[in-house]
Amino acid sequence: MLAIDAARLTRRLAELARFGALPGGGVTRSCWSPAYEGARAWLLGEIRAAGLAPWVDGAGNVFGAIGIDRVGVERPVVLTGSHIDTVPEGGTLDGALGVIAGLECLQTIVENKATPRCPLAVAAWSDEEGRYGSLFGSRAFCGLLDVARIPEMAAVDGEKLVDVMRRAGFDPARVPEARAPAGAVAAYVELHIEQGPRLEEAGVEIGVVQAIVGVRRSRIIFHGQADHAGTTPMARRRDAFLGGAEYALRAREHVVTHGSAVSVTNIGVVYVHPGASNIVPGRAELVHEMRDPDAAVLERLWTECREIAEGVARERQLRVEIRPTSATVPALCSPTIQAAVETVCAKLGHSTQRMDSAAGHDAQNLAAVTEAGMIFIPSVGGKSHRTDETSDPRAIERGANVLLHTLLTLAT
Ligand code: GLV
Ligand code: MN
Ligand code: MN
Repeated sequence: MLAIDAARLTRRLAELARFGALPGGGVTRSCWSPAYEGARAWLLGEIRAAGLAPWVDGAGNVFGAIGIDRVGVERPVVLTGSHIDTVPEGGTLDGALGVIAGLECLQTIVENKATPRCPLAVAAWSDEEGRYGSLFGSRAFCGLLDVARIPEMAAVDGEKLVDVMRRAGFDPARVPEARAPAGAVAAYVELHIEQGPRLEEAGVEIGVVQAIVGVRRSRIIFHGQADHAGTTPMARRRDAFLGGAEYALRAREHVVTHGSAVSVTNIGVVYVHPGASNIVPGRAELVHEMRDPDAAVLERLWTECREIAEGVARERQLRVEIRPTSATVPALCSPTIQAAVETVCAKLGHSTQRMDSAAGHDAQNLAAVTEAGMIFIPSVGGKSHRTDETSDPRAIERGANVLLHTLLTLAT
């Protein structure tokens, strides 16, 4: 049976990990950063060396293909891919695995002259981690991006998307050109690490994804009054940080007690202004995120958390401003692709488990335009979005071979 070259896959993962490498391990490689642009140039070189046709679209998505040199309706493509951007202080496999394994599968197909009926391509979608906008590249490709909002898209620290795109040599006005024509993608399948503990704990080799969560993020800004931190009597202070802190605790409790069994929530960004130890905080900004596979649950939790924020502000004599920043939609994976992955795993002798993804993925955008699915491999200790994220090399090889045979099944 056709098999990928595990040593080449491992070598490429290690080479990619050098871009944005941190001294103690792990990587920081946000989209459009110099480290990312270095990785993009390297990836294009590897795509060429593998004998694939390379191109980059207006949203910065990188492609390598067999049988086509652009995505079009004349020859619908079987697509795989993931992302090569990372979160700050992230790991070496989140995203990178799906891109490098996809490249390895296509190179294996080229080298073995296995000629599938459909063209095949691997994509590295830009800004999956959403420094400037969640799942940016795949949203643009799938026609789910509100392009009128591009000029205002920015990172939490205020850095604007248009500025970093221009610095990287891209014209933000050309992002709409990335939209694929309807019917151009025959199927999409993405290999990814699970990023959680379930497969490892169950002793199962391959996860077959059934549904991917939706993620809602909003900026919650409490406005109080900056004051002298020594002389202002405690009872007279209108401390914006305390509003934020109380909101964080109450919102978390609410999601845990009133959400579904799988609802989760996080506040991962907090700014306090003016940010001096001798000034009572006049403004506190939080980025609040909630996840659930059910859009209706997310909508209800979002409305209820809004009411909590307004209640906290009233009680503490603050003003609150709530700005929704992103909302990705939950998606169901294609039953056809789930069945194809399971058939391949049965042939290769790998155990499988159907599961939902609590992480967001580009596949959820592709699900809006084609049959889309995902293959998960176990993460050691369930660790991800941290520098020590890793998977067993045998699990990586297994996952890449499952991807190879799933692609061949879908393209033949
Ligand atoms: C993507 O990594 C996410 O935040 O789920
Ligand atoms: Mn991630
Ligand atoms: Mn990812």
